[in-house]
Amino acid sequence: MPIPERFLDELTERSDIVEVVGQYVRLTKKSGANLFGLCPFHSEKTPSFSVSPDKQIYHCFGCGKGGGVINFIMEIENLDFRDAVAFLARRANMPMPEEAEGEDSSRRGRLLELNRDAARFFYDRLVSSDGRAAQEYVAKRGISGAMVRNFGLGFAPNEWNALTDAMRKKGYTDRDLLDAGLMKPGKKGGGYDTFRNRLMFPVIDVRGSVIGFSGRILDDGEPKYLNSPETPVFSKSRNLFGLNLAKKTKRGYIILVEGNIDVVSLHQAGFDCAVASLGTSLTPEQARLLTRYTKEVILCYDSDAAGKKAAQRAIGILEKLDMKVRVLQVTGAKDPDEFIRRNGADAFANLIEGSAGQMEYRLAVLAEQYPPDTAEGKVDFFRAAASLLAAIPNAVEREVYAARAADIAGVKKEAVSDEVERLRRSKMRGAKKKENRDGTRPIPTARRGIRYDDPRSARAEEGLIRLLYLDPGIARGRELPEASAFSSELLGRFYSELLERIRSGERISLGVLAGRFTSEEMSHFTSLLEAPEDLANADRALEDYIAVITDRGAEEDEDLAKMAEKMRKTKSYGG
Ligand code: GTP
Ligand code: MN
Repeated sequence: MPIPERFLDELTERSDIVEVVGQYVRLTKKSGANLFGLCPFHSEKTPSFSVSPDKQIYHCFGCGKGGGVINFIMEIENLDFRDAVAFLARRANMPMPEEAEGEDSSRRGRLLELNRDAARFFYDRLVSSDGRAAQEYVAKRGISGAMVRNFGLGFAPNEWNALTDAMRKKGYTDRDLLDAGLMKPGKKGGGYDTFRNRLMFPVIDVRGSVIGFSGRILDDGEPKYLNSPETPVFSKSRNLFGLNLAKKTKRGYIILVEGNIDVVSLHQAGFDCAVASLGTSLTPEQARLLTRYTKEVILCYDSDAAGKKAAQRAIGILEKLDMKVRVLQVTGAKDPDEFIRRNGADAFANLIEGSAGQMEYRLAVLAEQYPPDTAEGKVDFFRAAASLLAAIPNAVEREVYAARAADIAGVKKEAVSDEVERLRRSKMRGAKKKENRDGTRPIPTARRGIRYDDPRSARAEEGLIRLLYLDPGIARGRELPEASAFSSELLGRFYSELLERIRSGERISLGVLAGRFTSEEMSHFTSLLEAPEDLANADRALEDYIAVITDRGAEEDEDLAKMAEKMRKTKSYGG
């Protein structure tokens, strides 16, 4: 149920970014067109948070956050896109476009109703006498009746049309069943149940609606789990299994595990704060959802290699959102469920007590990567650890972990801290130099997280996007490259959005973009818009950018230096 673009355009028009941000941040005018203030998204003493009234964007040179007015409200009020739009609409005295979405929202309502009825059907089948196989399975896994009710677990019988027939009787059409992902189309019309012979876990969102299902096979068949497909009401990457219950926890943290069974098992053991991502590794959207309910996440992934890798990725995502992260490793068991079954809830509570901070965990991972039991390993570990520790802003913490690293490597603590401080000094010098050279703040620090495979082409792609955003008229009568010519997938997506709007004669509105890109992507977008661009030479620059982009591949081996020279001649090239 997308919000009409016209509405978003008008809303962003009526929500001046300087006024909106000004309600949260004291902005002062320095030189140039931008206003500056202390960034509300990370702690700092000198202002590196800028707001551009012309471009209607904000951007922090310190932490890299940025976007348009809707992104700002999403970030600062912890709202999702739709709620942030509603928030601004109230402020701007614009009624939300309910009528326009009437049809969509009743469709969604219909699908939610169907999901709820399906969950009831599955539950009834589990507790009825023909659910014996599933009951035995539940008992075998040690799941209590209370948990079956709490989570609304169910059983999808081993029949082709058990659910579909029951739902048709209730008046649902085949269209409804297909759209909800509960039925698959048959070859000769009609269809059959998506979920058969599975233990059913309803996925319930934070509002309490059943939005989809995750079904575990009862025996050793494949696939082990089957999830609802993406539907108008269900998106795997934006929801977490168990959050409907965990959001009410008083524990002050949320435990993130891999498996549905782990969630159930933890809740049963009294850890009512457990959630699982739905078979994907943690997504930025899921992480953002978590920030609404907690400031601390305890990662408790499986103890295999895949689990460790997933934990590393999750740490990165959660850290970006300023979440406190602890990592808990179950030992002697493959996952938290098995650990609790073997050792009991108290043992798990002890694990939480002693769970390492992320730094401790990262050191442990490094020690695994470079076992410091040989001279060579020692040196490698020492180097890697020092560079990890050099990034810690707090001096006391640096000392603490230097001692820890020294311990692991079996070297003197001073050796580690000396190396760490040396690295810090040289890093700082590097940053200063860069600042002098550019005469600007070090923009690249704000671009962290996004890496380009082909930096040369990517710079040109950024430039082209920047020009089109700043001066859409420039596209008139020109042959522009297709997005497929772009080397960066993300830049290509920005570009197609811009192009589409320019070609249909619409204005380019950050509001519309905010609904289509993650906040990390929007931050990247605004950071590239912030780079200098001299519009006086825009035509020349445009040609050069296009040349670099379309040349890519064709002249892959063209002399880099020659290219750089060409770019330098165009004064407007920023980067
Ligand atoms: P048990 O092995 O019964 O203890 O299951 P579990 O719930 O602990 O799940 P497991 O650790 O094997 O997998 C973690 C999560 O990954 C599951 O809860 C599912 O969400 C997802 N998953 C596992 N296997 C599959 C699969 O075959 N297909 C899909 N789509 N997801 C899966
Ligand atoms: Mn398991």
